[in-house]
Amino acid sequence: MTQQQSTVNWDEYISERGKMWEPSAIRGLFPLEKIPGMVSLLAGKPNAETFPFSAIKVDLKPIIPGDAVETLTIESDALSEGLQYGATAGLPSLNKWLENLQEVRHKRARDGSWGLSLGSGSQDLINKAFYSLVNEDDSILLETPVYSGTIGLLKRHKVNLMEVPVDTQGLDPEKLEDILANWKSKFPGKRFPKILYTIPTGSNPTGATAPLERRERVLALVRKYKLILLEDDAYHYLSFDPEHIVPSYFELEGRDGGEVGRVIRFDSFSKILSSGMRLGFVTGPKPILEIIDLHTANTNLQPSSTTQAMVLVLLNKWGLDGFLAHTRRVAAFYKDKRDMFEKVAHKYLDGLATWVTPEAGMFLFLDLHLTTDGTPGDSSELISATAVQKGVLAVPGVGFLPNGGRSSFVRVSFSLATEEDAELAFQRLRECILEARGEKA
Ligand SMILES: Cc1ncc(COP(=O)(O)O)c(C=O)c1O
Repeated sequence: MTQQQSTVNWDEYISERGKMWEPSAIRGLFPLEKIPGMVSLLAGKPNAETFPFSAIKVDLKPIIPGDAVETLTIESDALSEGLQYGATAGLPSLNKWLENLQEVRHKRARDGSWGLSLGSGSQDLINKAFYSLVNEDDSILLETPVYSGTIGLLKRHKVNLMEVPVDTQGLDPEKLEDILANWKSKFPGKRFPKILYTIPTGSNPTGATAPLERRERVLALVRKYKLILLEDDAYHYLSFDPEHIVPSYFELEGRDGGEVGRVIRFDSFSKILSSGMRLGFVTGPKPILEIIDLHTANTNLQPSSTTQAMVLVLLNKWGLDGFLAHTRRVAAFYKDKRDMFEKVAHKYLDGLATWVTPEAGMFLFLDLHLTTDGTPGDSSELISATAVQKGVLAVPGVGFLPNGGRSSFVRVSFSLATEEDAELAFQRLRECILEARGEKA
């Protein structure tokens, strides 16, 4: 692991609104409470003696069915910490645990150039990162099709959503370079972009995973054009071949001796521990994390201490190896689901739809062949009306286009489906497609 310092001038990237946050009058003093001998009379922390909980006990599912159920208990100091207001960036011990995970997983030495903050799901942190970076009239590069949740949060900013097409291997560096190199002639009057957002593993919605060579080329462009790359890797641990994980952008920027500090990485516990706990974490350069933390301190104060305490007791029990073993079991579960789902999709949709087999994540992105003359169709009405009437719910491709338009695609998720569900759903989708083509079901 080499140690490199960032040369990024964050003043050029932090938004006007991001620069306006001021330290919270109370939270700004929290660190001083840790000074030995300090008597803290900081207002606001309720007295934990009044809380009605004496312990939190968590039963773990046995790894091997039939084995004994293990109970983890959160009590005494850990309980007080888990029921109380706490550090803005997350419980310090959990924060440390996760920094160690990032160091090992992404091979980035803890050289002080990067840090980590927890948030209420990665969505919370992605939202805050955009808020910290985006001014009115900015242009933002979004791989397209893209996660509708990101489109949703960006819609309230008055910005230009610039679509960078993806193909079966994710973000296409050639198209990205074409946009950047010819910016002035292609988009006259539009501000040159500062941010590129991508979902490199098991993308939502396309399912695509960008291979190493692509990521290296994208990173080179990020450096050349002085962009900040937002790496939303919510499906990183849902890679179906855990022995051959493609290195993350966060890892890549630290390993070739080139400039560091242009990648902000988002991880989520939602797909591997629980989505209801609402915990995710952002890893990246300290100057941007400080702004995100100020945003948190001044708005929702912190992520839940209680769910953090539950995760911490679990991770301490598991250790790094146990955690990674768990993620491999989760990935294997979804791989089986994908295989089953795809088998049924082939049975009903061969000749009527095409798709790329996802190597990670939980989605098939089906390109529906809605016409018989080869012209591109539009799935919007078909999926939001006809399919619903026939009893199948899915997301039409238009939902993943930042600026709207026509799309022949539909996103279907295999995370919850049983084989019986898949049979019914694909049979019904088949009927919809045949009707659209004017063919008999
Ligand atoms: C690509 C992507 N990013 C972020 C999120 C938000 O996840 P979280 O539950 O961590 O907020 C999702 C959720 O589905 C997602 O698909």
